[in-house]
This record gives sequence, structure tokens and C-alpha cells, in this order.
Amino acid sequence: MRTEQAPTIQRVDYQPLAWSVERIDLHFRLEPTGTIVTNRMVCVRNPAAAGVGPIRLWGEALERISLSIDGVEPSAGALRENGSLLEIDVAGPEQSVTLEVVTRVNPKANTTLSGLYLSNGGFFTQCEAEGFRRITCFPDRPDVMARFTVTLDADREACPVLLSNGNLLEQGDLPDGRHYAKWEDPFLKPSYLFALVAAKLVALEREVETASGRKVLLQVWVEEGNLDRCEHAMDSLIHSMRWDETTFGLELDLDRFMIVAVADFNMGAMENKGLNIFNTKFVLAKPDTATDIDYENVESVVAHEYFHNWTGNRVTCRDWFQLTLKEGLTVFRDQQFSADMLARAAGPEGAASARAVKRIDDVRVLRAAQFPEDGGPMAHPIRPDSYQEINNFYTATVYEKGAEVIRMLHTLLGPEGFRNGMDLYFSYHDGCAVTCDDFVDAMAEANGRDLDQFMHWYSQSGTPRLRAAGAWDAASGSYTLSLSQHTPPTPGEAEKQPLVIPVALGLIGPDGRDCALQLEGEAQPGATTRVLALNSAEQHFRFVGLAAEPVPSLLRGFSAPVILELDEDDARLAFRMAHDSDPFNRWDAAQRYSERIILASAGGTMQAVPEAFVAAFRTLLEDTALDPAFRAQALSMPAEGFLLERMSVADPQALRAALVGLTRHLGSVLAGEWRALFAAMQVPGEYRYHPADAGRRALANLALRYLAAAGDAEGLALAQARFDAATNMTERFGALAALAQVSGAAREAALQAFHQRYLKDPLVLDKWFALQAGAWRWSDAAEPTVERVHALMSDPAFSLSNPNKVYALLGTFFRANAGEFHAADGSGHVFWADQVIALNATNPQVASRMARALENWRRYTPELQASIRPQLERVLAAEGLSPDVAEVVGKALS
Ligand code: TRP
Ligand code: ZN
Repeated sequence: MRTEQAPTIQRVDYQPLAWSVERIDLHFRLEPTGTIVTNRMVCVRNPAAAGVGPIRLWGEALERISLSIDGVEPSAGALRENGSLLEIDVAGPEQSVTLEVVTRVNPKANTTLSGLYLSNGGFFTQCEAEGFRRITCFPDRPDVMARFTVTLDADREACPVLLSNGNLLEQGDLPDGRHYAKWEDPFLKPSYLFALVAAKLVALEREVETASGRKVLLQVWVEEGNLDRCEHAMDSLIHSMRWDETTFGLELDLDRFMIVAVADFNMGAMENKGLNIFNTKFVLAKPDTATDIDYENVESVVAHEYFHNWTGNRVTCRDWFQLTLKEGLTVFRDQQFSADMLARAAGPEGAASARAVKRIDDVRVLRAAQFPEDGGPMAHPIRPDSYQEINNFYTATVYEKGAEVIRMLHTLLGPEGFRNGMDLYFSYHDGCAVTCDDFVDAMAEANGRDLDQFMHWYSQSGTPRLRAAGAWDAASGSYTLSLSQHTPPTPGEAEKQPLVIPVALGLIGPDGRDCALQLEGEAQPGATTRVLALNSAEQHFRFVGLAAEPVPSLLRGFSAPVILELDEDDARLAFRMAHDSDPFNRWDAAQRYSERIILASAGGTMQAVPEAFVAAFRTLLEDTALDPAFRAQALSMPAEGFLLERMSVADPQALRAALVGLTRHLGSVLAGEWRALFAAMQVPGEYRYHPADAGRRALANLALRYLAAAGDAEGLALAQARFDAATNMTERFGALAALAQVSGAAREAALQAFHQRYLKDPLVLDKWFALQAGAWRWSDAAEPTVERVHALMSDPAFSLSNPNKVYALLGTFFRANAGEFHAADGSGHVFWADQVIALNATNPQVASRMARALENWRRYTPELQASIRPQLERVLAAEGLSPDVAEVVGKALS
């Protein structure tokens, strides 16, 4: 472990390497505690760097056995080592040399899950961002693209399946019960896309044809007992292939495409060329163990990784500052794919609502995770300017805000203009490692547009505020909309430039119908929704030809990642909740109205829930014309993380009390309505994953939760009956979640029964851990959640070395249960520091994710700050602190 203070890497310091690698031939003799890696590579002088300078290789946690250049060991003076960097001088004028380096690694001792490691007896790799250097010495940067051949040699019985990127060239037996396989990847790739798997696995296989008629083999590799849970991942893969062919004209470029599921994995999944490696959580699904949401997540993660094959692999990043080049674009693509899939399932009638439901999901994530990041000490532009540890920059900003930035381009250029830009991007950069500028330049050129000002979205951090005000002039029948923008300062960025903000808007007439929009100077009225591009600090737009004062509906579909500031009274919000033709904004009106009540109640300025709110809420609840999935969204409270961010001083206790109060109130005054809704939303017949059924189940589960929150005896009986009779995980877990809200014997019995039933099912137990870690205290009698979480760490199924377990239990508690985590006695904070320190010693990436739970501590009440600061300091002073955790905690305290 590196213990020295990590240096800060600056984006402007980028330099091409003097030596690159053309071909690499790797041989692995796989043994759990001592794997020998023989690496023979052809190094060439890089014309882009004038070819002067040493060969630079990085290596970490490697034991070097030998190193030679063209068969000769370099002299002592020609070889320098500095931390993980190895520099070798090439004295002669040769343009190309063969470098052979043999190293030994210990996969069994590798608890970081970066590099080569063991999971359940099998060998797996994870190289992004800088894990390849933990496997062998290499110029481990994404701008070095090489051709790989890989030979795996392993024990036949322990590892019957040997996989790597590309095509299988040959395989066969070796002496001593061993066997081998040799793979070749026909495409140039950066080292972060390398992968190997050697394990006891079985595959679900399908052969399909690409659009151009090539036959390709698709495989989903899992442990034997999980073969009945792969169908959905396979279907998702095929749907993704078809979608990319029809939407972007992009085809699978290999003869074989593999997905491998592994139980120990730091993140969701990894797009290694032709050999995607997945967290089991995003592959395995069957009705008895996976919820509708799990099915959705599998589909979108499979799509995300598959789409990377073009956006990320064929065209990759020049350096890690450009991460959003592949991640923002690929998240946008997977969001569009999921929306299209939902729309297709819903049919022409329901398509718009189905798309809105997906958009709402995505915006919820953005607001709950990215807005707080943008308002805290880790705030960074989607293309950061500096980092200490790149693993800390796989963030909601780079991914989710990055996707919003791509979406704005799509909105500004239109689907065809966007497609033309993508085509040009590939025609220029296929096979290359490029920058975000290259992408936006292609979009600009293909559309004859100047996108210079748009680039501020790549260089500025912080969430912009969009301020809107309208003025009605009855005499002329005109409505003037004033739009202004302002981005608050963020660390290191005091001054902000005006951005290009696409504002999709409509004007709603008093009859609840959209007005045809006509800007002053236009000959006639046009569409009812249009996009204005705000590109200066303040602009005015005058709409004419209106019969009466309209109600503005701004930022329809959430057309930009900003906070809209618009003074709307309760009546207007209720009006838009009932009439806005844009389903996203209808939902958003409900969120704004709820937010207003929750914050007023948390701030002590509101005692009772207004009747008018309950009435507007009831109208949505009973509107059978609305798609159930949409209603489930509209009847859910804003995320706690987003609300905390909206408080001037974050007070998690007061916020929780307000949320509890409002939820209970809505549960009890509408108990009859919830029960009727529950009855109406039953889905007959055998479970199938289908968005229409999923919407009904989501709404039924929500009804149970409101009823249980209110302590409604009938509702609890319904939940118990559903729990006992459930034939699928969505219903069973939905019922359990409702029962678990009320402390007492019924809760404990249900939790116990669930635990017993799924004792051998780690992914299901993750749900069980998360449910308890996320528990709210609905009554004073209930046990503090921190005590339960602490106790659950001793459950035999829990393990600090499995990231899914850590995320389920600790992650849920630290990051999704503010009301309990920030208990006034500070017990949560002490517990946090203990766990971050423990995890730091084994898995810095996971430790750092947990550490981030307290980065926004300065926004909390003085009492909480006083409790948190010493814990942050304790972590910062911990021995052997990783650069990952040091960066997060250091920035939090600075
Ligand atoms: N590139 C991956 C994705 O977006 C995520 C990823 C980055 C990752 N670093 C990782 C996955 C480390 C696992 C471990 O899909
Ligand atoms: Zn990705």
C-alpha cells in the first residue's frame, strides 16, 4: 500500500509517451498464491512525442523476476524506479525493441479487487482505471493501444473455463492436470480493457445474426447453480445489439461476445473488449429472487456495457480526465435504450408516459446524488481539471451529469443532427484515443454549429440556477418570460461564465390546455412545446396572441441539469399537478409541492398538512387514466438526499421528522383510497417481467408502505397476507418492506422467515441487509438503526470483503438513511470512522465510497459538525491511509 501523500495530477500536464506498445503477448501460469506473468511486448518510439525519452512502464504490487530488452538485461544505470514508475533508457537508435518482463503476483492476497484476484476459487481481473499495472509492467494509460494475445495456463479441475478478450485461437491439455487456452483480440485496445477469467463456470449460449448477416456467438457465463437466472441478461444483450444497429448503425464487431458474472466486484460491471465482467447483481434474475427493479437494472447495465463497445472501446479516452467522453455518452445511450424499450412495451398510447417514467427515474438519481456532489468539496466539472486518485472520479457528475450534457446536445441538434455528429465522430476517430473536444467538434462540424460556448458545460462545476419570472400584459395579450442564470461558486472556481441552457417550455391556458406558442415577430403560432436556448446571463422572451394569462411549464422533460427557481403559489402547483401536458413536469409539480411542505414542516413554520395538498395528491392517486408506473412516481416523496441539499442548514433529524409526519398523514387520511388502490393493482397470473405489470406492482407496494407507515391494521394484514402468499420477489419484498416499518413481533418474524428462505442466496440477502440498514424509526420505541446495523455485521452472511455486502449494509446506512446515520449522540459517526478505517486496509475503492458519505458535513447543524469533525480527523490520521480515502477526507476537511 502506498502511504505517502498522493500527488495531484493535472489535466493540462498531459504529454504523449516517448514509447508506445504495438503488440503484447501475455502468458499466465495461474496459481492462487503465485501466478507467473510473462509479458513480451513490442515497444515502438511514438512519433507524436518525437520519440525521445525512456520507455515508461508502471507496475504495482508485482514481484519482478526478470526484465530484458531484445534479450539483454538493461544495465543498472539504464533502469530507474520511482514508486510504481519504471523508466528504461534505450541507448541505441532503434525504432522498436522487444521487452520481456516476468513477474509474480499473489491473486489470493489481492483484496482490492483491482488487478488479478480470486473470487470463489476462480481467477478474475479488473483493470479500469489503473489495475493492469497490478498484473504486469506496462505503459498503463488509455492512449497506449496495442494488439493483445493471451495464453492462460491453469489447473483443469479448478478452472475448466479459460477466457480472455477476442477470439479463441487454440486450447489443449498440459501435463500435471493442467490445460491452456490462447486468445487473440483482433482490435487495438488500451490496457484498461484487458480481461481474463479462469474459473468453474457454465454458459447460456445463443447464436444470432448481426444486421449485416454475420453469425455471432453470445455467452453468459455463471456458476452452475445460476444457469436458470441468465435468460433475462441474454435477452437484454440481444435487444441492445438490435437497438444500436437501428439507432446508430453500430454493429457488434467480434465473432463472440461474452458476459461473465462474479460475486466479488467493486462496481456494477466492466466493458472489457468482448469479455464484459459483471457484478452478479446485474446479471442474475429470476422471478423468485429478483424484483422488477432488478430486471430493469440488469437490462440497463447489460446495455451500458454493450454500448461501450463503440463509445469507449472502438473510440477510447486519451487520458482519464476525458472519462465522461465514454461514460456520459454511454449513460445517455443506455437511458435512451431503456426509454425506447419501455415505450415499445407500452404501445403507442402509453409511450409518452413510459418515457417520462424513465426520465423521472434518471432525474431522481441526478438530484439525489449529483446535486449534492456539485455543492460539496468534491465538486468537479464533468471533465475534471485535477485528481489525486482517478478511482474517486467515477462519479455521479462524470456519469449522470455527463449524460445530461450529451442529452442537451441531442436536444439542441435534434435526433438527426445528433446521429450525423455521431457518424462523423466515428469516421474521424475510430481506433483512436481522443478527447471531449474531439467529440463536440464532430457534433459542431456535422451540424454547422458553433458549440464553443457549450464547452463551458465541460469546464465548469456547480449546479446552475435558472431563474424565471413571467409578466402578463392583458391589453396586448402578451406574456414576457424573463430567464436568467447563475451558478454559485465551487471550490477553486469563483467566477462562472453563462452556459447554453436549452429550456423546453409550454404555456398552459386557464382551461388546462397548452397554448400554441408564438414569439413576437413570428408570423403565426406554432408548437405547444418548444426549446429556447438561453445563452446569456439574462434574456426575455415575449409570447403573443394569448387570450388569457398562461401558467408557464418550464424545463419540460428536464431539458437541462439545473435548479429551476420560479415563484409558484400552491394553487399553481396543484393546477400543474392536474393539468401539465408534460408528464415529467406534472411529476415535478408534485415534487415541488411536497418539498415545500416538508421543508416548511422541518423548519417549524408549518404545523398541519394543508388540505389542498392532500386533495391534489388524492386526485393523482385516483386518476385511473394515468399509467400506474407514473402514479407510483408521482405519489413518492422527493429523495432525502435531495431535500437535505435544499435546506439552508442541513438538519437530518428535523427533515426525517417532517418526512415521517407527512407520510403518516397521507397514509392515514387516505387509508381507504390506498386500500382500494392496492386491490385494484393486483396482477393476476404467473409472474412475467413486463413494464405494465411492474407499474401495477410498484403502485400496490407503495400503497402498502403508506398504510404501514400510518399503522393501519387492515393495511398491515394485507401486507402480511401478500408476504405469505407471494409467488415472486417483487411482491414478497414489497410486503416485507411494509411490514418492516412497524417495529414488533410481526416485523421480526417476517425478517426471520425471509432470511431463512434465502439463506443460500447472497444477492437476496443483500436486500435483507439493505432493508434493515435503511429502516426509519416510525415510533420512539423502535431500536436505533445503528445498533441493528452493527449487530448485522456479525451475521454469518455478512463480509467486509464482499463489496455488495458492504454497499447493502453500510452503504445503505451511511448514504440512504440520513435520519438514523446522523443520530444526535454521534454513534453513527464513530461507527462510520471505524468501518472506513477497516475497509481502507483491504479495499481502498470501497472504503473511499463509504468515506464520501460525510463529505458535505459542513452543511449540517453546528452540533452535527462538532460530532463529525473529530471522526474525519481520526480517519485522516489513520495509518496506511490509501490515496483514495485521503483525497476524499482531505478535501472534506480543507
Ligand atoms: N467502466 C465501467 C462502467 O462504466 C465502470 C468501472 C470503472 C469499473 N472502474 C471500475 C467497474 C472498477 C469495476 C471496477 O461500466
Ligand atoms: Zn460505463
